Amino acid sequence: MEKIVILTGAGISAESGLGTFRDEGGLWAQHRIEDVATPEGFARNPALVHEFYNARRQQAATAQPNPAHTALARLERDFTGEVLIVTQNVDGLHEAAGSANVLHMHGTLAGALCAACGHRWSAPMQMAPGHECPACQAPAARPDVVWFGEMPYFMDKIWDHLREADIFAAIGTSGNVYPAAAFGQDAYRAGAHTVELNLEPSATVSDFAETHFGQATQIVPAWVDTLLAP
Ligand code: APR
Repeated sequence: MEKIVILTGAGISAESGLGTFRDEGGLWAQHRIEDVATPEGFARNPALVHEFYNARRQQAATAQPNPAHTALARLERDFTGEVLIVTQNVDGLHEAAGSANVLHMHGTLAGALCAACGHRWSAPMQMAPGHECPACQAPAARPDVVWFGEMPYFMDKIWDHLREADIFAAIGTSGNVYPAAAFGQDAYRAGAHTVELNLEPSATVSDFAETHFGQATQIVPAWVDTLLAP
């Protein structure tokens, strides 16, 4: 049975109004990564980090899936083989569009994690320092988001899926952050047909046999149509 593995990045949610990281005026132009997306930054100033994720959680809660998310949900529904989305995004727009087979390798804004005991629960809209873990009561609640220097989630499963993929597509990602930026090469070496769909060539564009450039809401539905054509 054919398997399509799709890596998504911030670019697929850009037209839903959620900021990307490295575009002009992106999140990393507004905040220093070391202050808001590292364990050291959280230890130094938990209030600043909670503030950063509270704002993104609030924004993501009112964002709507766009035609690119909806097209991938249609692909999962109508494709005869298996479709897996591995997303770097922490928003819930793939699920909101109807995708069920989704792995969040960088965690989710909707999740909270206890830094003391590892317990996970649904994050409240606003989190603050000293927030207690419902399981161990330690004041050690943090966003369940993978920070720089931490290991992304589900990596063993993801590498297995990449080895079995017939088609690997990367959508809306700049190819700057590993290990996701190596997935194109991993899939290519395993014999997959590799496709990049992005606003502009990514840093790893040379890893891809097929490329489509433009707005995700245009190029992703068109690509899904070709995959589903009889
Ligand atoms: N349609 C398609 N692609 C777009 C659109 C759009 N409307 N808007 C932006 N893009 C593309 C940009 O050209 C860029 O290549 O999306 C990509 C976004 O790149 P980044 O901002 O680097 O986001 P991403 O690749 O997801 O970052 C990966 O870095 O900071 C960490 O954890 C964070 O998950 C994130 C990871």
